[in-house]
Amino acid sequence: MKHFLHIRDIPIKDLKKIISDAINRKSKRNKLNILDPDKDMPLKGKILLQMFEKSSLRTRLSFYLAIKQLGGGSLTLRPEELHSGTGGESIADTSKILSTYGNAFMLRTDSDKKLDEFKKYSNIPIINGLSPSSHPTQVLSDIFTIQELKRKSISKLKLCWIGDANNNMMNSLIEACVKFTVSLNIACPKSYQPNKTLISVIKKQKGKIKIFYKKELAVKNSDVVMTDKIISINDKVNKKKKLKSLKNFKVDLKTMNLAKNDAIFLHCLPRGNEVSEDVFLGKKSKVWQQALNRVHVQKSILLYCFGKLR
Ligand code: CP
Ligand code: NVA
Repeated sequence: MKHFLHIRDIPIKDLKKIISDAINRKSKRNKLNILDPDKDMPLKGKILLQMFEKSSLRTRLSFYLAIKQLGGGSLTLRPEELHSGTGGESIADTSKILSTYGNAFMLRTDSDKKLDEFKKYSNIPIINGLSPSSHPTQVLSDIFTIQELKRKSISKLKLCWIGDANNNMMNSLIEACVKFTVSLNIACPKSYQPNKTLISVIKKQKGKIKIFYKKELAVKNSDVVMTDKIISINDKVNKKKKLKSLKNFKVDLKTMNLAKNDAIFLHCLPRGNEVSEDVFLGKKSKVWQQALNRVHVQKSILLYCFGKLR
């Protein structure tokens, strides 16, 4: 049994195994309907409990389909309907009960401390479905999508992140780039650069990860251009101020044209005005494939957690 809380916790050999399992399983589903299980049904009889303390479309649906395609089922709990959600039961007791009723627990939360607390008292895998500090399932899926589209090992590609660089997506992407030894250029205003811990991690990467304060410098020769919503879910910032600080970090056509000719654009969604409509809906944008790939990678993450990765 293994938890999946942050990319930094997971050995690179396991991250690579998750991706190769996802490639393998995806390739075998061409003729299957979306609810048809994979032939081997490796999680037959298992239930995934999910809970979202923040809104979600893709993570919710992809985990629902993932466990279903592996032969199991899921139940989504509503935080306000649990005693713990209304302050009437401890996380410790809730976690122990979830461990006896369920086989894995996926949580999207506003509190990293809560994830750790659930993990402390759990006998079943805990999966981080987005927290303030990490979005590991999304980023691992993005690595899968990049390799699928570029037909190259991620370590041979040049990634560029433009925009808010002090959020969950950026944190997990930096952790992934360290694990997979990927070259990453980050373009952000100084006030939204990666947090101190990650800045010191970046310094140890011998120039593989670089921070720029001008997007034009960062994006040159990139194979992949990525960004994320400027205002994250439940972001308790001065929105007007943040939008203003990031106004020079929009991914527009002019910026995209500075990347390689065959560069692709990715965005985890939902989107705001950090990307222009013509880029988002343009030929280089692969956001729909990126979103659907979440299902395939969630499956292999689940198998990793259950100790069933081949
Ligand atoms: N990208 C992502 O996690 O989407 P949701 O917030 O809709 O789950
Ligand atoms: N950084 C974004 C990611 C959404 C999937 C957020 O936390 O809202």
